[in-house]
Amino acid sequence: MKITLLVLAIVFSSAVFSQTTFDIEGHRGCRGLRPENTIAAFINAINLGVNTLEMDMQISKDGKIVISHDAYMGSNICSTPEGKPVSQADEEKLKIYTLTYDEIKKYDCGSRGNPKFPEQQKMSTVKPLLSEVIDTVEKYIAEHHLPPVRYNIETKSTPAGDDINHPKPAVFARMVYDLIKQKGVINKCIIQSFDPRTLQEIRKIDPNITTALLVENLKGLKSNLKLLGFNPTIYSPNFMLVNKKLVRQCHHLKIQVLPWTVNDEKKMVELKQMGVDGLISDYPDREIKVLR
Ligand code: G3P
Ligand code: CA
Repeated sequence: MKITLLVLAIVFSSAVFSQTTFDIEGHRGCRGLRPENTIAAFINAINLGVNTLEMDMQISKDGKIVISHDAYMGSNICSTPEGKPVSQADEEKLKIYTLTYDEIKKYDCGSRGNPKFPEQQKMSTVKPLLSEVIDTVEKYIAEHHLPPVRYNIETKSTPAGDDINHPKPAVFARMVYDLIKQKGVINKCIIQSFDPRTLQEIRKIDPNITTALLVENLKGLKSNLKLLGFNPTIYSPNFMLVNKKLVRQCHHLKIQVLPWTVNDEKKMVELKQMGVDGLISDYPDREIKVLR
């Protein structure tokens, strides 16, 4: 009986994560609907039915992996512990890499909403830890008997930011790898980055890990792959850089194509017709409506 259940679980999870499944990804959870990169956004995206949760990682002063797009407390969305909007003059001083997580969690980054996303529900919420996100998501999925989801986790780093905004690539990669290993979710993770260095480092640790190269430059596929030094599992360009030829070239190399960040329904359909393997959107509800 136990063996039958195990076989069923393996078949089910490999079907969910198989290469033939069109990957519906919620950008920063579902930024169009809930405050970005928060537990509320991730749970809502799961309830909508995404395959994958996209999110961004920063490192705190006390060495914790914090889920945040910005390297600081953004003046566009965050409030101080006193409840006042973070000012533009102050935001760069409020760097995640210079704050402990106890300090970070005093900033509410959800109550003000985001004027760029009028449908986003306002709520008091903080930047979570990656460990908390994984624990909460895995528990929620188990309790509600939902299919597993993947974590598309982005190392936010640049050469200019080394030891100023984040640790050097080898340290960043090791911290991420150790945490996802400890949580038992390595096989559910995609490590994505615009910075080839963290992908190179993570691959040194584990050559079988799923990697996605994010691209917003005009160098082209060949140059970007040369710069990376290996073929990633996924090539993930700004959607405006995608055409049929690029999809064909990637598929020829057995690389999947995953454009970001696509919010227009017509464009979603066009990209799917071009043969992309999934899409990242602030509105996974739209993706599900037009693509499933
Ligand atoms: O994963 C792709 C996308 O998230 C990259 O853009 O700036 O939203 O992290 P950004
Ligand atoms: Ca991202």
